[in-house]
Amino acid sequence: MDEETLNKIMKAGRIAAQVREEGAKKLSVVGTSFLTTMDYCEKRILELGGEIAWAQLAVNDVAAHYCPDDDDTSVSKEGDLIKVDIGVHIDGYIADNAMTIISGTSNEWKDLITTSQKALNAAIKLVRPGVQLWELGEAQYSEAEAKGFTTIKNLCGHTLGRYRVHGGISIPTFNNKDKTELKEDMQIAIEPFITNGTGLVKDKGKATVFMMGKEKGVRSPYARKIVEFVKPRNGLPFTFRDLTRQFGKGGTALGLRELQSLGVVRPYPPLAEVAQGMVAQTEHSMIVRDKPIVYTKI
Ligand code: CO
Repeated sequence: MDEETLNKIMKAGRIAAQVREEGAKKLSVVGTSFLTTMDYCEKRILELGGEIAWAQLAVNDVAAHYCPDDDDTSVSKEGDLIKVDIGVHIDGYIADNAMTIISGTSNEWKDLITTSQKALNAAIKLVRPGVQLWELGEAQYSEAEAKGFTTIKNLCGHTLGRYRVHGGISIPTFNNKDKTELKEDMQIAIEPFITNGTGLVKDKGKATVFMMGKEKGVRSPYARKIVEFVKPRNGLPFTFRDLTRQFGKGGTALGLRELQSLGVVRPYPPLAEVAQGMVAQTEHSMIVRDKPIVYTKI
């Protein structure tokens, strides 16, 4: 990896960590608007010199993939277990990180949060060229099991590619027997999701975040405009409110319907724990070395 690339990655990491902390701090105050906070996080990424990859949150039994629409009036409530997941890129080099907080003064879910932190640290300790993926999964799972919790088996960490949120290798949160080895200089994100539920998520409710899928010709003007509009994202996610702010609700709905039916745009609905268990997540991005460079640490 050349110096210039490393510098871009490190810068993306510093910004992602900072914005993650700022967003989480806001949401730990009861009554904070989710929409306002996510807008704030996006604005901060730009102010700090980064590019937005995504700013998402997820509450209680929802593990991931929730981006408030413009008419979403949700606010943080006492005892809410809130995940803040921030992605920043510099020239396509992505930093992906997440943390979980409890809104207000409740301590009820503290154990879930500390377990997700411990699970992440246990995995990071093993990261080096040659480590096999199952080992990273087992390390995370052991921490969950020790506390009587479990990991969410169908959510994984992942490699990061240039402009690619998922670089093709999944890092399990349990021993899935995958003997694939990490290689020097791989960019990876490890993200244990810990729950007191069953340990699986499923789609819940309507998607508010999307990514481009197949390239294909589209007919209607709105569909075409949406494709043009998201082209500069280079394959990174975009939100429903990105589109409604540009094309209004009607135009967005029309265009998206066509794009989804053609598979040109893929929806990513919120993922909720199947038994409505509470979910905590902690995530860092790192570069694989004998001593990994964890570039989203403050
Ligand atoms: Co991630």
